[in-house]
Amino acid sequence: MSTSAIIKHLPTTLEDRYANIDITLNEIHHHGSHSSINIGEPIKWKSPKTLSGPTIWSGADFEHNDSFTLYLSAEDIEEVEHALQVFKTLEVDVDGIAKSNFVLPSLSKKLEEIVESIHNGQGFFVIRGLDMSRYTVEDGIILYLGIATYIGDKRGLQDRKGNVLAHITSSKAWDVPMNQRHGIHSTMALPFHSDMGCDILALQVRHSALDGGSTFLSSASTIFNRLSEDEPEVVETLLEPSWPVQYSGKEARYYLAPAMTVHQGRLMASMDPKRFGPHPASSGTTIPALSKRQEYALDRVGQVARATDLRLNLKRGDLLFFNNWAVLHRREAYDDHGEASSRHLVRMWLRNTEHGWSVPPSMKLPWQSAYGDGAKHQTRVYAMEPEPKYSVPKYSAGSAAFLLEDSDDDSDN
Ligand SMILES: [Fe+2]
Repeated sequence: MSTSAIIKHLPTTLEDRYANIDITLNEIHHHGSHSSINIGEPIKWKSPKTLSGPTIWSGADFEHNDSFTLYLSAEDIEEVEHALQVFKTLEVDVDGIAKSNFVLPSLSKKLEEIVESIHNGQGFFVIRGLDMSRYTVEDGIILYLGIATYIGDKRGLQDRKGNVLAHITSSKAWDVPMNQRHGIHSTMALPFHSDMGCDILALQVRHSALDGGSTFLSSASTIFNRLSEDEPEVVETLLEPSWPVQYSGKEARYYLAPAMTVHQGRLMASMDPKRFGPHPASSGTTIPALSKRQEYALDRVGQVARATDLRLNLKRGDLLFFNNWAVLHRREAYDDHGEASSRHLVRMWLRNTEHGWSVPPSMKLPWQSAYGDGAKHQTRVYAMEPEPKYSVPKYSAGSAAFLLEDSDDDSDN
């Protein structure tokens, strides 16, 4: 047979199995030696299959190396503080923050390198050096938005209310028991996942936890390679477009998607264990439960991700940016031991119009909710603080861009 074939020319069974994979398959039946391929090039697919390139890393690579951190110099800080003061004189709404009104003549060059790294390199970066005690809450947000606009010019919506900022915290003002809250509003650990639909995930550390609460990152490509070598059937399961993703609570609607796919030569992950399968609150649902193979695949991803992860010891004032298609994240449980302020991260979902990855149709539904045309006409809200009163979510689980049918925000809930 030909050594290379485009998917559409494959026999029906393979076509079905890899229906959502936009790649060139090469010697799919070949069982010879390992092949190595460059990300960015058309994927040459062999069995076993491995990826290569800068997206392959593990935590051990950064043991004595924090090259992923940009330490702001005194001049950099002077520049951002000047931009803040200028911006405030313009009387522009925070939603209007852009490179044109938050000018960073010198720091912008360093930020361009971060953009390159996020899209074509290791996929993540930390910016350190802002002293949050120097700023009001609002100024702290403006600084965050101002710097972030150089990383991603588009700020996605995170729910149907139009929130652009999400507060990842367990506010001391809330009295709802932890087990009734969304995971991001508790002190509990969260497993490895991606925020489904998000391009670049940005976090600003307003307060770090006294004990625990570290954020961990893991490369999807590294996980893919390890699994390809040891258990290729797990990789096949992840690539199959048969993972049920619930997108509506009451109606219990869902779509089927792959957990990982290769699109335009790039491995992309869109997976959240808490978002797959029927939600416990949706009774009498027709949403398929995960198969045994899918449950096993999720377990293995979690294990390999942990074995290769990088612990980030984020400090107050840090900004973290990562490519949410290429990097999975988790966080450990934390305890503030009765401190007045809880761990508090402010999350944004960004997209860089020029450098953002093409999103495959199979993963586009939540992405469109955050960044699509529909999102344009919605009111955009920038809440500087968490809601003073916590309302218990009925259907939300995990982190995925809201979808129109999602009924968590309906008034009768
Ligand atoms: Fe998340």
